[in-house]
Amino acid sequence: MSTALNWTGKDAAFALGRRLISADASGRLGEGPHFLSDGDTYVPTVDENMLIVGDNLPALTGLLGTHRGRIKVIYIDPPYNTGNALAYKDHGHDHASWLNFMTPRLMLARELMREDGVIFIHLDDGESAWAQLLGHEIFGEANSLGTLIHQRAKGGGNSPSFVRGHDYVHVWAKVADQAGAFLTEKKAPAKLEIIDGKRMLVETDVLRAGFGRYARGQERRLMYEDILEVKGAKKLAEVDAKLGTGEYVLRAWGPAGKHAVVRVTPAEKASSKLYSIIKALGGQNDLEDLGLGGIFSYPKPVELVKTLVASQTFFDPEAIVLDFFAGSGTTAQAVMAANQRDAGSRTFILIQTPEPLQTKNARSLVGADSEDGFPEISRLTAERIRRAAKRHHPDLRFTEIAVAEQ
Ligand SMILES: C[S@@+](CC[C@H](N)C(=O)[O-])C[C@H]1O[C@@H](n2cnc3c(N)ncnc32)[C@H](O)[C@@H]1O
Repeated sequence: MSTALNWTGKDAAFALGRRLISADASGRLGEGPHFLSDGDTYVPTVDENMLIVGDNLPALTGLLGTHRGRIKVIYIDPPYNTGNALAYKDHGHDHASWLNFMTPRLMLARELMREDGVIFIHLDDGESAWAQLLGHEIFGEANSLGTLIHQRAKGGGNSPSFVRGHDYVHVWAKVADQAGAFLTEKKAPAKLEIIDGKRMLVETDVLRAGFGRYARGQERRLMYEDILEVKGAKKLAEVDAKLGTGEYVLRAWGPAGKHAVVRVTPAEKASSKLYSIIKALGGQNDLEDLGLGGIFSYPKPVELVKTLVASQTFFDPEAIVLDFFAGSGTTAQAVMAANQRDAGSRTFILIQTPEPLQTKNARSLVGADSEDGFPEISRLTAERIRRAAKRHHPDLRFTEIAVAEQ
């Protein structure tokens, strides 16, 4: 008995995917979908941040020319079968339409992934089961790494049966055993530094002079030169032993020519595996913080996407991250925040249709990028990237380009 998922239009959807993948997507302009910037044809480079405005089907096809096999992390939060103004609306609202819409896009996504690449597909109950079976067909069930739970709220949701507070993030690797563990930081307060070419967590606050409150500006750290006097010979011997093994190092500190005792730990030893239930609230709050609240419905929390991105780029802070259902641009901000955390240089590629924004605030927002506010979602995406950059990455360079069909 075949256990494959079947639906009306499946063969045509896969045939379309195969055709797009094998088409001459060598990046040669004029032979298929290509990109425009300021009206001129544009060939992206592999290390630039981009917002591509247009349908993701030609956009992904166009990207094959420059980015085939180069994407480390894909995060998508596709539109659901909710009957909203969705790009696949013309074809109806049933599961088959959704599967036909997603199939060639996921096939192209797989083609863009590195051998050690992963894809996170974020869904609620509506399409979760279908998406999981579709994902197995496209990425291979053997490359399924499981499903994470995103706990998003205490209450909320409109199911008549439950108070819904979670949704799902299905995860596939291009090649299961290449992706490696999904990591998260064990020690939040430390700083990442590159020392002798290695990524190390550096804690500058390991020895304290004592407990209690300190006057403003007063040094809390116990300087190496004061250990004997404050803590005695035993403590000094202990610290000297750790200096001997390299667990501690001395760093010149303050104007008095003294030294702080600093703990350095290889970054990989200070990480733990990601837990499969991730609690992250916000989303709308993140946009409000940037002065963009109430314009876009149900944005995902930056913290969630940052955690997912960082988990697979813990030792690869130059990776390329793709989101081809960009919405308000959460993924761009998540990439910037991850870079800010570890001085990384990950880049993002976002794709978003110039779909009209439906909310009433969209046109009335003060300080928007045009007098009309944000007539289209993609304008909001661009503005969010600019505002997030001011916070996380003031010298960020990103290119806004448009898909141009042949
Ligand atoms: C659920 S939202 C994503 C929200 C996003 N994760 C965030 O945090 O803001 C899905 C987005 O995909 C966009 N979209 C739908 N069909 C598309 C297509 N064919 N190409 C590009 N974007 C599309 C919609 O306009 C919508 O903004």
